[in-house]
Amino acid sequence: MNKKLWGGRFNKKTNPLVEEFTESIHFDYKLAKCDVLGSLSHVEILKKSGYLKPEEAKKLSKALNSIYDSIENKNFKFDKTSEDIHTDIQNKLYKKVGNLALKVHTARSRNDQVLFATKLYCKYSILSLQESMVIFMKALVKQGEDNKEVIIPGFTHMQHAQPVYLKDYLGAYLEMLFRDEARLEYIYNHLKITMGSGALAGTPIKAGDYQIKASELVKKWKIGGISNLESPINSIDTVSDRDFIIEIISVLSIIATHLSRLAEDLIIWSTQEFDFIEIDETFCTGSSLMPQKKNPDVLELIRGYAGRLYGNLVSVLTMMKGLPLTYNRDMQLDKEPLFNSFEIVSNELKVLSGLIKTLKFNKQRINECLKDESLYATDLVYYLVDKKIAFKDAHTIVGRLVKYSTDNNLKIKDMPENTLKKFSEEFIKADIIKLFDPRVSVESKKSILRKK
Ligand code: ARG
Repeated sequence: MNKKLWGGRFNKKTNPLVEEFTESIHFDYKLAKCDVLGSLSHVEILKKSGYLKPEEAKKLSKALNSIYDSIENKNFKFDKTSEDIHTDIQNKLYKKVGNLALKVHTARSRNDQVLFATKLYCKYSILSLQESMVIFMKALVKQGEDNKEVIIPGFTHMQHAQPVYLKDYLGAYLEMLFRDEARLEYIYNHLKITMGSGALAGTPIKAGDYQIKASELVKKWKIGGISNLESPINSIDTVSDRDFIIEIISVLSIIATHLSRLAEDLIIWSTQEFDFIEIDETFCTGSSLMPQKKNPDVLELIRGYAGRLYGNLVSVLTMMKGLPLTYNRDMQLDKEPLFNSFEIVSNELKVLSGLIKTLKFNKQRINECLKDESLYATDLVYYLVDKKIAFKDAHTIVGRLVKYSTDNNLKIKDMPENTLKKFSEEFIKADIIKLFDPRVSVESKKSILRKK
């Protein structure tokens, strides 16, 4: 059996069922590198505060660095019988340097370790997610640019509303992603990486010894803009706090919502009835029974996974709501939802980038749909408003005209001028005919400050 980080006050062996039930190494192994970086930092702090001699610190750092490298090179073998990753790394260190390893836990609790490693993991994961977001956003921009002349029918309530530029439609998703980006940025900048909470009450090491620059600790820890290590302002709050996990899963849930809505739009557009887009075969799957099928399963899973994200968020919120301060073992259960949420959204962004890049728009079919006169009804209202008719009256006039047109299966464009004049004296056929044009319609909207 692997050595535990505790045990002195116990006479009996832990029941194997308890060991199995309480272990977390099968998921927190993902924190391995971050935990080693935490120990490397702690060694520096112990040296600074005089708990470790410089040569001891050097020996420990060397051993920890070699553990880090073995994790990076995938040579590291997790011992599944360890209680968690923090225990496992401590045991690995013991194998390398013997009793000296026992000094690393001076003035440190696993509560401190868990927080350090989880927060660092969050920082790394936010950075890599942002990279995937940029790739995805570039794919959206490129589709918009490649189809910058394309106009599509816009919908409200899933009914034909007004024509809009395809690039503006895709741009709407870009805006959502910009906001998500800003949300992540905020969390990243406010996520303080601390040490010195101990189990809950702080440690005998003075606050100043914890306040060191990331770059002074270890080169490997120095990634773009990462904040310095800090001592806690309130150690009780620090070890009790999982707000950052809730915030991150919230933002990831919002991103998942945005991707799910895009997925839904694309699913609708890909139906035979709409036929606005062609999803590349490489991003579709087939049916075992119906040979004709080319299904948008990727998009359906993106829609489906949003539910998983919300579940993850609710599970952490619910887990936290009744906990007395400070650390309680319930909190071990924050990691799977966190890791899982990052993984889902990052995979979604990657697969969706490829799908967007290879998407083809069926312009002929889209143009066919743009012939629907109802899309220009609002433009007819503005026409009458320009002739000084009150908006409400103009709205009623055009409403009646549209109803007459559908009831009599007669296009407005094909109505003689005297029929039009029965609805309003202001209608001049030669003028209104020009309004049934998608380009005229979109270009008449002047309120939009489009980004360049
Ligand atoms: N694996 C645990 C976790 O992630 C370790 C923390 C145990 N801490 C303690 N004070 N017993 O939460």
